[in-house]
Amino acid sequence: MILLHRHNFPQFTTMEKMAIICFASIPNGILVLLALTIFQEVQGIGVNYGTLGNNLPPPSQVAKFLLHSTTINQVRIFDANPEILHAFANTGIEITITIPNDQIPNITNLTLAQQWIKTNVQPFIPSTNIIRILVGNEVLSTANKLLISTLVPAMQTLHIALMTSSLDNLIKVSTPHSLGILSNSSPPSSGRFRQGYDTHILKPMLRFLKDANSPFMVNPYPFFACSSSNLDYVLFRANSGFFDDNTKLLYTNMFDAQLDAVYSAMKILGFEDVEIVISETGWPSMGDSTQIGTDTKSASDYNGNLIRHVTSGVGTPLMPNRTFDTYIFALFDENLKFGPLCERNFGLFHPNMTLVYDVPIMRNNVVVTNNHSKALLLIMIALSFLIGSWA
Ligand SMILES: *[C@@H]1O[C@H](CO)[C@@H](O)[C@H](O)[C@H]1NC(C)=O
Ligand SMILES: *[C@@H]1O[C@H](CO)[C@@H](O)[C@H](O)[C@H]1NC(C)=O
Ligand SMILES: *[C@@H]1O[C@H](CO)[C@@H](O)[C@H](O)[C@H]1NC(C)=O
Ligand SMILES: *[C@@H]1O[C@H](CO)[C@@H](O)[C@H](O)[C@H]1NC(C)=O
Ligand SMILES: *[C@@H]1O[C@H](CO)[C@@H](O)[C@H](O)[C@H]1NC(C)=O
Repeated sequence: MILLHRHNFPQFTTMEKMAIICFASIPNGILVLLALTIFQEVQGIGVNYGTLGNNLPPPSQVAKFLLHSTTINQVRIFDANPEILHAFANTGIEITITIPNDQIPNITNLTLAQQWIKTNVQPFIPSTNIIRILVGNEVLSTANKLLISTLVPAMQTLHIALMTSSLDNLIKVSTPHSLGILSNSSPPSSGRFRQGYDTHILKPMLRFLKDANSPFMVNPYPFFACSSSNLDYVLFRANSGFFDDNTKLLYTNMFDAQLDAVYSAMKILGFEDVEIVISETGWPSMGDSTQIGTDTKSASDYNGNLIRHVTSGVGTPLMPNRTFDTYIFALFDENLKFGPLCERNFGLFHPNMTLVYDVPIMRNNVVVTNNHSKALLLIMIALSFLIGSWA
Protein backbone atom coordinates (compact mmCIF):
# COMPACT_ATOMS: atom_id res chain seq x y z
CA MET A 1 0.00 0.00 0.00
CA ILE A 2 2.91 2.38 0.51
CA LEU A 3 4.15 3.02 -2.98
CA LEU A 4 7.68 4.26 -3.04
CA HIS A 5 9.45 5.28 -6.20
CA ARG A 6 12.30 2.95 -7.10
CA HIS A 7 14.84 5.53 -6.07
CA ASN A 8 15.67 5.54 -2.42
CA PHE A 9 13.88 8.02 -0.29
CA PRO A 10 15.82 8.85 2.78
CA GLN A 11 12.89 10.26 4.74
CA PHE A 12 11.79 6.87 6.08
CA THR A 13 14.09 5.31 8.65
CA THR A 14 14.00 1.56 9.23
CA MET A 15 12.01 2.22 12.39
CA GLU A 16 9.46 4.19 10.42
CA LYS A 17 9.22 1.51 7.76
CA MET A 18 8.62 -1.11 10.46
CA ALA A 19 6.04 1.17 11.98
CA ILE A 20 4.32 1.45 8.61
CA ILE A 21 4.25 -2.33 8.26
CA CYS A 22 2.84 -2.74 11.81
CA PHE A 23 0.34 -0.07 10.99
CA ALA A 24 -0.74 -1.78 7.78
CA SER A 25 -1.32 -5.03 9.63
CA ILE A 26 -4.00 -3.42 11.80
CA PRO A 27 -7.26 -4.94 10.52
CA ASN A 28 -8.95 -1.59 10.29
CA GLY A 29 -9.74 -0.04 6.93
CA ILE A 30 -10.03 3.44 8.40
CA LEU A 31 -6.51 3.36 9.80
CA VAL A 32 -5.15 2.17 6.48
CA LEU A 33 -6.95 4.95 4.66
CA LEU A 34 -5.55 7.44 7.13
CA ALA A 35 -2.06 6.06 6.52
CA LEU A 36 -2.53 6.49 2.78
CA THR A 37 -3.35 10.14 3.22
CA ILE A 38 -0.34 10.69 5.46
CA PHE A 39 2.18 8.88 3.28
CA GLN A 40 1.35 9.91 -0.23
CA GLU A 41 3.68 8.65 -2.89
CA VAL A 42 6.47 11.08 -3.61
CA GLN A 43 7.66 10.67 -7.19
CA GLY A 44 11.15 12.04 -7.69
CA ILE A 45 12.57 14.26 -10.39
CA GLY A 46 16.11 15.25 -11.32
CA VAL A 47 17.74 18.65 -11.76
CA ASN A 48 20.87 20.02 -13.32
CA TYR A 49 22.81 21.90 -10.67
CA GLY A 50 24.82 24.46 -12.62
CA THR A 51 26.97 26.89 -10.70
CA LEU A 52 27.68 29.74 -13.14
CA GLY A 53 26.40 32.39 -10.73
CA ASN A 54 28.08 34.70 -8.22
CA ASN A 55 25.06 34.82 -5.93
CA LEU A 56 24.32 31.13 -5.39
CA PRO A 57 23.92 29.57 -1.92
CA PRO A 58 26.65 27.26 -0.60
CA PRO A 59 26.31 23.58 -1.63
CA SER A 60 25.70 22.46 1.97
CA GLN A 61 22.57 24.66 2.12
CA VAL A 62 21.48 23.51 -1.33
CA ALA A 63 21.78 19.83 -0.40
CA LYS A 64 19.74 20.29 2.80
CA PHE A 65 17.14 22.29 0.95
CA LEU A 66 16.71 19.74 -1.83
CA LEU A 67 16.49 16.86 0.63
CA HIS A 68 14.02 18.39 3.08
CA SER A 69 11.93 20.77 1.00
CA THR A 70 11.71 19.32 -2.53
CA THR A 71 10.90 16.08 -4.33
CA ILE A 72 14.20 16.31 -6.24
CA ASN A 73 16.03 13.01 -5.79
CA GLN A 74 18.57 13.13 -8.63
CA VAL A 75 21.17 15.80 -9.27
CA ARG A 76 23.56 16.19 -12.15
CA ILE A 77 26.60 18.46 -11.91
CA PHE A 78 28.82 19.62 -14.76
CA ASP A 79 32.09 18.71 -13.06
CA ALA A 80 33.11 16.77 -9.97
CA ASN A 81 33.19 19.72 -7.55
CA PRO A 82 34.37 18.19 -4.25
CA GLU A 83 32.44 20.74 -2.16
CA ILE A 84 29.18 19.68 -3.84
CA LEU A 85 30.00 15.96 -3.60
CA HIS A 86 30.74 16.41 0.08
CA ALA A 87 27.53 18.41 0.63
CA PHE A 88 25.35 15.62 -0.74
CA ALA A 89 26.87 12.96 1.52
CA ASN A 90 24.26 11.00 3.50
CA THR A 91 21.33 12.54 1.62
CA GLY A 92 20.65 9.47 -0.55
CA ILE A 93 20.17 11.84 -3.49
CA GLU A 94 21.52 10.23 -6.66
CA ILE A 95 24.43 12.19 -8.08
CA THR A 96 25.69 12.24 -11.66
CA ILE A 97 29.11 13.82 -12.19
CA THR A 98 30.86 14.96 -15.36
CA ILE A 99 34.36 14.70 -16.80
CA PRO A 100 34.89 18.01 -18.65
CA ASN A 101 35.26 17.78 -22.44
CA ASP A 102 38.92 18.83 -22.47
CA GLN A 103 39.90 15.80 -20.38
CA ILE A 104 38.34 13.22 -22.70
CA PRO A 105 41.54 12.37 -24.66
CA ASN A 106 43.37 11.73 -21.37
CA ILE A 107 40.66 9.37 -20.12
CA THR A 108 41.49 6.96 -22.98
CA ASN A 109 44.61 6.22 -20.94
CA LEU A 110 43.67 3.61 -18.30
CA THR A 111 46.17 4.94 -15.77
CA LEU A 112 44.73 8.45 -16.05
CA ALA A 113 41.15 7.14 -15.94
CA GLN A 114 41.97 5.23 -12.77
CA GLN A 115 43.60 8.35 -11.34
CA TRP A 116 40.50 10.38 -12.15
CA ILE A 117 38.31 7.93 -10.22
CA LYS A 118 40.77 7.83 -7.34
CA THR A 119 40.70 11.63 -7.04
CA ASN A 120 37.09 12.46 -7.92
CA VAL A 121 35.02 9.43 -6.88
CA GLN A 122 36.72 7.24 -4.26
CA PRO A 123 36.94 9.90 -1.53
CA PHE A 124 33.17 10.51 -1.63
CA ILE A 125 31.63 7.05 -1.88
CA PRO A 126 29.65 5.40 -0.47
CA SER A 127 28.34 8.32 1.65
CA THR A 128 27.68 10.33 -1.51
CA ASN A 129 25.42 8.32 -3.80
CA ILE A 130 27.30 8.74 -7.10
CA ILE A 131 25.43 6.71 -9.73
CA ARG A 132 26.88 7.93 -13.02
CA ILE A 133 29.89 9.54 -14.61
CA LEU A 134 29.30 11.45 -17.82
CA VAL A 135 32.19 11.63 -20.24
CA GLY A 136 31.92 15.21 -21.52
CA ASN A 137 28.77 17.05 -22.53
CA GLU A 138 27.26 17.30 -26.04
CA VAL A 139 30.62 16.27 -27.47
CA LEU A 140 29.32 15.51 -30.98
CA SER A 141 28.09 19.13 -31.25
CA THR A 142 31.57 20.53 -30.59
CA ALA A 143 32.78 19.56 -34.09
CA ASN A 144 36.14 18.87 -32.38
CA LYS A 145 37.58 15.86 -34.22
CA LEU A 146 39.94 14.86 -31.41
CA LEU A 147 37.18 14.91 -28.78
CA ILE A 148 34.70 13.10 -31.01
CA SER A 149 37.15 10.36 -32.00
CA THR A 150 38.28 9.74 -28.40
CA LEU A 151 34.77 9.84 -26.84
CA VAL A 152 33.81 6.15 -27.10
CA PRO A 153 37.33 4.90 -26.24
CA ALA A 154 37.29 7.20 -23.18
CA MET A 155 33.90 5.81 -22.08
CA GLN A 156 35.17 2.24 -22.51
CA THR A 157 38.39 2.96 -20.63
CA LEU A 158 36.56 4.68 -17.79
CA HIS A 159 34.27 1.66 -17.50
CA ILE A 160 37.31 -0.64 -17.32
CA ALA A 161 38.81 1.64 -14.66
CA LEU A 162 35.56 1.30 -12.66
CA MET A 163 35.74 -2.47 -13.10
CA THR A 164 39.26 -2.57 -11.70
CA SER A 165 37.87 -0.88 -8.56
CA SER A 166 34.73 -3.11 -8.54
CA LEU A 167 32.59 0.00 -8.98
CA ASP A 168 31.14 -0.81 -12.41
CA ASN A 169 27.89 -2.16 -10.99
CA LEU A 170 27.32 0.92 -8.83
CA ILE A 171 28.47 3.63 -11.20
CA LYS A 172 27.47 3.80 -14.86
CA VAL A 173 29.26 5.60 -17.69
CA SER A 174 27.40 7.63 -20.30
CA THR A 175 27.49 10.94 -22.19
CA PRO A 176 24.70 13.43 -23.02
CA HIS A 177 23.80 14.42 -26.57
CA SER A 178 22.02 17.42 -28.00
CA LEU A 179 19.33 16.58 -30.54
CA GLY A 180 21.75 17.93 -33.15
CA ILE A 181 22.81 14.27 -33.47
CA LEU A 182 19.61 13.74 -35.48
CA SER A 183 19.53 14.53 -39.20
CA ASN A 184 15.80 13.92 -39.33
CA SER A 185 13.23 14.06 -36.53
CA SER A 186 9.86 14.62 -38.16
CA PRO A 187 7.71 12.62 -38.28
CA PRO A 188 9.09 10.84 -35.18
CA SER A 189 9.14 7.42 -36.91
CA SER A 190 11.65 8.78 -39.45
CA GLY A 191 14.16 9.87 -36.80
CA ARG A 192 17.74 9.16 -37.93
CA PHE A 193 21.20 9.91 -36.59
CA ARG A 194 23.48 12.08 -38.72
CA GLN A 195 25.31 10.11 -41.35
CA GLY A 196 28.91 9.52 -40.36
CA TYR A 197 28.15 9.73 -36.66
CA ASP A 198 25.56 6.95 -36.90
CA THR A 199 27.75 3.95 -37.71
CA HIS A 200 31.15 5.34 -36.66
CA ILE A 201 30.35 6.82 -33.23
CA LEU A 202 26.78 6.16 -32.09
CA LYS A 203 26.60 2.49 -33.04
CA PRO A 204 29.73 1.52 -31.06
CA MET A 205 28.55 3.82 -28.27
CA LEU A 206 25.14 2.13 -28.09
CA ARG A 207 26.84 -1.29 -28.17
CA PHE A 208 28.97 -0.19 -25.20
CA LEU A 209 25.97 1.26 -23.31
CA LYS A 210 23.95 -1.89 -23.88
CA ASP A 211 26.76 -4.19 -22.71
CA ALA A 212 27.45 -1.98 -19.67
CA ASN A 213 23.73 -1.61 -18.87
CA SER A 214 24.09 2.19 -19.08
CA PRO A 215 21.54 4.66 -20.48
CA PHE A 216 21.64 6.71 -23.69
CA MET A 217 21.31 10.33 -22.61
CA VAL A 218 19.72 13.16 -24.57
CA ASN A 219 19.00 16.86 -24.04
CA PRO A 220 15.69 17.64 -25.79
CA TYR A 221 14.70 21.32 -25.71
CA PRO A 222 11.29 21.84 -27.32
CA PHE A 223 11.78 25.50 -26.30
CA PHE A 224 14.27 26.00 -29.11
CA ALA A 225 11.71 24.74 -31.64
CA CYS A 226 8.74 26.72 -30.42
CA SER A 227 6.87 29.36 -32.39
CA SER A 228 3.64 31.27 -31.92
CA SER A 229 1.82 28.62 -34.00
CA ASN A 230 2.91 25.54 -31.99
CA LEU A 231 3.16 26.94 -28.45
CA ASP A 232 0.32 24.79 -27.03
CA TYR A 233 1.85 21.63 -28.57
CA VAL A 234 5.25 22.48 -27.15
CA LEU A 235 3.91 23.32 -23.66
CA PHE A 236 1.83 20.09 -23.30
CA ARG A 237 -1.37 22.19 -23.39
CA ALA A 238 -4.58 21.06 -25.07
CA ASN A 239 -4.04 21.01 -28.86
CA SER A 240 -5.09 19.00 -31.88
CA GLY A 241 -1.75 17.22 -32.06
CA PHE A 242 0.47 15.97 -34.83
CA PHE A 243 -0.25 12.76 -36.71
CA ASP A 244 2.58 10.44 -37.78
CA ASP A 245 1.34 8.91 -41.04
CA ASN A 246 3.85 6.03 -40.92
CA THR A 247 2.79 4.74 -37.52
CA LYS A 248 -0.75 6.18 -37.35
CA LEU A 249 0.19 7.54 -33.93
CA LEU A 250 -0.96 10.92 -32.64
CA TYR A 251 1.51 13.21 -30.88
CA THR A 252 0.04 15.76 -28.49
CA ASN A 253 3.34 17.27 -27.36
CA MET A 254 6.74 17.95 -28.91
CA PHE A 255 8.66 16.32 -26.06
CA ASP A 256 7.20 12.90 -26.96
CA ALA A 257 7.85 13.53 -30.64
CA GLN A 258 11.52 14.37 -29.97
CA LEU A 259 12.01 11.30 -27.74
CA ASP A 260 10.38 9.04 -30.31
CA ALA A 261 12.62 10.45 -33.04
CA VAL A 262 15.61 9.44 -30.87
CA TYR A 263 14.02 6.02 -30.30
CA SER A 264 13.49 5.52 -34.05
CA ALA A 265 17.12 6.42 -34.76
CA MET A 266 18.29 3.95 -32.07
CA LYS A 267 16.02 1.27 -33.49
CA ILE A 268 17.50 1.58 -37.00
CA LEU A 269 20.88 0.72 -35.43
CA GLY A 270 19.28 -2.17 -33.50
CA PHE A 271 19.51 -0.65 -30.02
CA GLU A 272 15.95 0.37 -29.19
CA ASP A 273 16.15 -1.55 -25.91
CA VAL A 274 18.80 0.75 -24.40
CA GLU A 275 17.35 2.90 -21.60
CA ILE A 276 16.88 6.59 -22.42
CA VAL A 277 17.57 9.27 -19.82
CA ILE A 278 16.66 12.94 -20.32
CA SER A 279 19.85 14.59 -19.09
CA GLU A 280 18.52 18.10 -19.75
CA THR A 281 15.31 19.80 -20.67
CA GLY A 282 13.82 23.04 -19.47
CA TRP A 283 12.28 26.39 -20.16
CA PRO A 284 13.37 29.96 -19.38
CA SER A 285 11.10 32.24 -17.34
CA MET A 286 12.49 35.37 -18.96
CA GLY A 287 14.04 36.30 -22.30
CA ASP A 288 14.25 38.88 -25.04
CA SER A 289 10.83 40.19 -26.02
CA THR A 290 11.28 38.78 -29.53
CA GLN A 291 11.51 35.22 -28.17
CA ILE A 292 8.18 33.40 -27.94
CA GLY A 293 7.16 31.91 -24.60
CA THR A 294 9.86 33.42 -22.42
CA ASP A 295 7.63 34.11 -19.42
CA THR A 296 6.88 32.52 -16.06
CA LYS A 297 3.50 31.14 -17.18
CA SER A 298 5.07 29.22 -20.08
CA ALA A 299 7.96 27.99 -17.91
CA SER A 300 5.49 26.90 -15.22
CA ASP A 301 3.35 25.06 -17.80
CA TYR A 302 6.30 23.34 -19.50
CA ASN A 303 8.11 22.17 -16.40
CA GLY A 304 4.94 21.36 -14.45
CA ASN A 305 3.42 19.37 -17.31
CA LEU A 306 6.78 17.74 -18.01
CA ILE A 307 7.09 16.54 -14.41
CA ARG A 308 3.55 15.17 -14.43
CA HIS A 309 4.17 13.53 -17.82
CA VAL A 310 7.48 11.79 -17.16
CA THR A 311 6.46 10.57 -13.72
CA SER A 312 3.03 9.33 -14.85
CA GLY A 313 4.39 6.14 -16.41
CA VAL A 314 2.37 6.73 -19.58
CA GLY A 315 5.52 6.82 -21.74
CA THR A 316 5.46 8.04 -25.36
CA PRO A 317 3.50 6.76 -28.38
CA LEU A 318 6.44 4.56 -29.49
CA MET A 319 7.54 3.75 -25.92
CA PRO A 320 4.27 3.16 -24.06
CA ASN A 321 4.42 2.69 -20.28
CA ARG A 322 8.12 3.57 -20.07
CA THR A 323 9.44 6.02 -17.50
CA PHE A 324 12.42 8.25 -18.09
CA ASP A 325 14.78 9.63 -15.50
CA THR A 326 14.55 13.34 -16.27
CA TYR A 327 16.82 16.18 -15.20
CA ILE A 328 15.33 19.66 -15.48
CA PHE A 329 17.66 22.41 -16.54
CA ALA A 330 18.26 24.07 -14.19
CA LEU A 331 18.18 24.30 -10.42
CA PHE A 332 19.08 28.01 -10.24
CA ASP A 333 19.07 31.05 -12.45
CA GLU A 334 22.76 31.50 -13.27
CA ASN A 335 23.70 35.15 -13.69
CA LEU A 336 27.18 34.54 -15.15
CA LYS A 337 26.04 32.57 -18.21
CA PHE A 338 26.77 34.08 -21.63
CA GLY A 339 24.38 34.46 -24.53
CA PRO A 340 20.87 35.87 -24.79
CA LEU A 341 18.88 36.86 -21.67
CA CYS A 342 16.99 33.54 -21.58
CA GLU A 343 20.26 31.64 -20.89
CA ARG A 344 20.45 33.25 -17.44
CA ASN A 345 16.81 32.48 -16.64
CA PHE A 346 16.35 28.70 -16.89
CA GLY A 347 16.29 28.28 -13.10
CA LEU A 348 13.49 26.73 -11.06
CA PHE A 349 14.75 28.65 -8.03
CA HIS A 350 16.05 32.11 -7.25
CA PRO A 351 19.41 32.13 -5.44
CA ASN A 352 17.46 32.64 -2.16
CA MET A 353 15.86 29.24 -2.81
CA THR A 354 12.34 30.49 -3.46
CA LEU A 355 10.55 29.20 -6.57
CA VAL A 356 10.73 31.47 -9.62
CA TYR A 357 7.25 30.22 -10.58
CA ASP A 358 4.81 27.57 -9.43
CA VAL A 359 5.98 24.06 -10.26
CA PRO A 360 5.06 20.78 -8.52
CA ILE A 361 8.45 20.11 -6.99
CA MET A 362 8.03 21.10 -3.33
CA ARG A 363 7.61 18.56 -0.57
CA ASN A 364 5.00 20.79 1.15
CA ASN A 365 2.70 18.15 2.50
CA VAL A 366 5.38 15.73 3.45
CA VAL A 367 7.46 18.35 5.25
CA VAL A 368 4.47 19.69 7.13
CA THR A 369 3.11 16.28 8.04
CA ASN A 370 6.38 14.53 8.64
CA ASN A 371 6.69 15.16 12.36
CA HIS A 372 2.94 14.90 12.82
CA SER A 373 2.91 11.60 11.02
CA LYS A 374 5.66 10.24 13.23
CA ALA A 375 3.66 11.21 16.31
CA LEU A 376 0.46 9.82 14.77
CA LEU A 377 2.17 6.56 13.95
CA LEU A 378 3.37 6.17 17.51
CA ILE A 379 -0.17 6.73 18.77
CA MET A 380 -1.56 4.22 16.28
CA ILE A 381 0.99 1.60 17.22
CA ALA A 382 0.33 2.15 20.92
CA LEU A 383 -3.39 1.80 20.18
CA SER A 384 -2.90 -1.40 18.21
CA PHE A 385 -0.99 -2.93 21.12
CA LEU A 386 -3.74 -1.85 23.51
CA ILE A 387 -6.41 -3.37 21.28
CA GLY A 388 -4.28 -6.50 20.94
CA SER A 389 -3.94 -6.87 24.72
CA TRP A 390 -7.72 -6.56 25.21
CA ALA A 391 -8.45 -9.34 22.76
C1 LIG B 1 46.32 15.14 -19.40
O1 LIG B 1 47.25 14.41 -18.62
C2 LIG B 1 48.50 15.01 -18.45
C3 LIG B 1 49.35 14.09 -17.61
O2 LIG B 1 49.58 12.88 -18.26
C4 LIG B 1 48.36 16.37 -17.80
O3 LIG B 1 49.60 17.01 -17.77
C5 LIG B 1 47.37 17.21 -18.56
O4 LIG B 1 47.13 18.41 -17.86
C6 LIG B 1 46.07 16.46 -18.74
N1 LIG B 1 45.17 17.24 -19.57
C7 LIG B 1 43.97 17.64 -19.15
C8 LIG B 1 43.19 18.45 -20.12
O5 LIG B 1 43.55 17.36 -18.05
C1 LIG C 1 49.24 7.07 -19.62
O1 LIG C 1 49.49 8.10 -18.71
C2 LIG C 1 50.59 7.84 -17.87
C3 LIG C 1 50.63 8.93 -16.81
O2 LIG C 1 50.66 10.19 -17.40
C4 LIG C 1 51.85 7.78 -18.71
O3 LIG C 1 52.97 7.49 -17.90
C5 LIG C 1 51.69 6.69 -19.77
O4 LIG C 1 52.80 6.71 -20.64
C6 LIG C 1 50.41 6.91 -20.56
N1 LIG C 1 50.19 5.75 -21.40
C7 LIG C 1 49.97 5.87 -22.69
C8 LIG C 1 49.71 4.61 -23.42
O5 LIG C 1 49.97 6.96 -23.25
C1 LIG D 1 0.68 -0.37 -21.13
O1 LIG D 1 -0.19 -0.36 -20.00
C2 LIG D 1 -1.55 -0.57 -20.35
C3 LIG D 1 -2.38 -0.37 -19.12
O2 LIG D 1 -1.84 -1.06 -18.01
C4 LIG D 1 -1.69 -1.95 -20.97
O3 LIG D 1 -3.03 -2.15 -21.35
C5 LIG D 1 -0.80 -2.05 -22.19
O4 LIG D 1 -0.83 -3.36 -22.70
C6 LIG D 1 0.64 -1.70 -21.84
N1 LIG D 1 1.41 -1.65 -23.08
C7 LIG D 1 2.63 -2.17 -23.17
C8 LIG D 1 3.28 -2.05 -24.50
O5 LIG D 1 3.19 -2.73 -22.24
C1 LIG E 1 13.92 35.88 -3.32
O1 LIG E 1 14.51 36.46 -4.46
C2 LIG E 1 13.58 36.95 -5.41
C3 LIG E 1 14.38 37.40 -6.66
O2 LIG E 1 15.41 38.24 -6.27
C4 LIG E 1 12.74 38.04 -4.80
O3 LIG E 1 11.79 38.50 -5.73
C5 LIG E 1 12.01 37.47 -3.58
O4 LIG E 1 11.30 38.49 -2.95
C6 LIG E 1 13.01 36.86 -2.62
N1 LIG E 1 12.26 36.19 -1.55
C7 LIG E 1 12.64 36.20 -0.29
C8 LIG E 1 11.75 35.48 0.69
O5 LIG E 1 13.64 36.77 0.09
C1 LIG F 1 10.84 17.63 12.64
O1 LIG F 1 11.55 17.25 13.78
C2 LIG F 1 12.97 17.32 13.67
C3 LIG F 1 13.55 16.85 14.99
O2 LIG F 1 13.02 15.60 15.32
C4 LIG F 1 13.36 18.77 13.36
O3 LIG F 1 14.76 18.85 13.18
C5 LIG F 1 12.67 19.24 12.11
O4 LIG F 1 12.97 20.60 11.86
C6 LIG F 1 11.17 19.07 12.24
N1 LIG F 1 10.54 19.40 10.98
C7 LIG F 1 9.51 20.19 10.90
C8 LIG F 1 8.98 20.44 9.53
O5 LIG F 1 8.98 20.70 11.88
